[in-house]
Amino acid sequence: MTRPVVASTRADLASALDPTRSGGGRVALVPTMGALHEGHAALVSTARGRVTDADAVVVSVFVNPLQFGPGEDLDRYPRTFEADLEVCADRGADVVFAPALPEVYPGGDPEVTVEPGPLGGVLEGATRPGHYRGVLTVVAKLFGLVRPDAAVFGQKDYQQLVLIRRMVEDLCMGVDVVGAATVREPSGLAMSSRNAYLDPEQRVTATVLFRALQAGAAAGPDGPEAVLAAAHGVIRSAPGVELDYLTLTSQDLADPPPYGEARLLVAARVGTTRLIDNVPVALGGKDL
Ligand code: PAF
Repeated sequence: MTRPVVASTRADLASALDPTRSGGGRVALVPTMGALHEGHAALVSTARGRVTDADAVVVSVFVNPLQFGPGEDLDRYPRTFEADLEVCADRGADVVFAPALPEVYPGGDPEVTVEPGPLGGVLEGATRPGHYRGVLTVVAKLFGLVRPDAAVFGQKDYQQLVLIRRMVEDLCMGVDVVGAATVREPSGLAMSSRNAYLDPEQRVTATVLFRALQAGAAAGPDGPEAVLAAAHGVIRSAPGVELDYLTLTSQDLADPPPYGEARLLVAARVGTTRLIDNVPVALGGKDL
């Protein structure tokens, strides 16, 4: 297991990738905010699996202030850099790009940003105004800095994945965006850096989200109303969960759910921790 090269400046990054680029190799990027868990490890493995040994896998570790709203957890967001390096080494990353704030935002907050459009204002965007503007802006910057051929994102933040695909398409960025399946704890709880905020009792409570999604998905053949009723029934049965939204939508989050492939998404607060999760749903209907 070789330790990845750690690059903290644009110049370090360029020289770390120089041998790959001059040899005609490809670059796969896994953007993260650190505090890496099994879910991130799977993203790095996915990136590694999509390229050859002659290509480079870069993991970026950068807690992006632009995507945190006032009163959110920017200051207490977990930072575990040494452990992150171990995960990256273990999963075969070649370079860890860990820039300081001025390296990414040399002029302070940027004047030109990436507007996510209407999809940035719904679901997560409704409670976190400006969040996806911050995400898309930093992802565009990371794409500019790393110039990857492919980039891997988790399906857990499904709306983020859809918006990044949209950005890449609308702004002709030419990056192959890969969505990797959500990794879960044995309890079904989706892996998330924010799970670190949950106490043992809340960790058990939080498993209701995936149980609700599973109940909803199992009711898929009976149509959209049945999906939502089944999922709501499970959430209602669990005290200590404050539901924000439970939404059934098309896979690209653009339309009302069609019959066929759809997505069921949930966001809820357990204590002070806001959690999100989602699953695919194969929707049937009475008239099919
Ligand atoms: O999903 C995340 O961890 C972040 O939103 C991302 C994509 C690394 C941008 O900061």
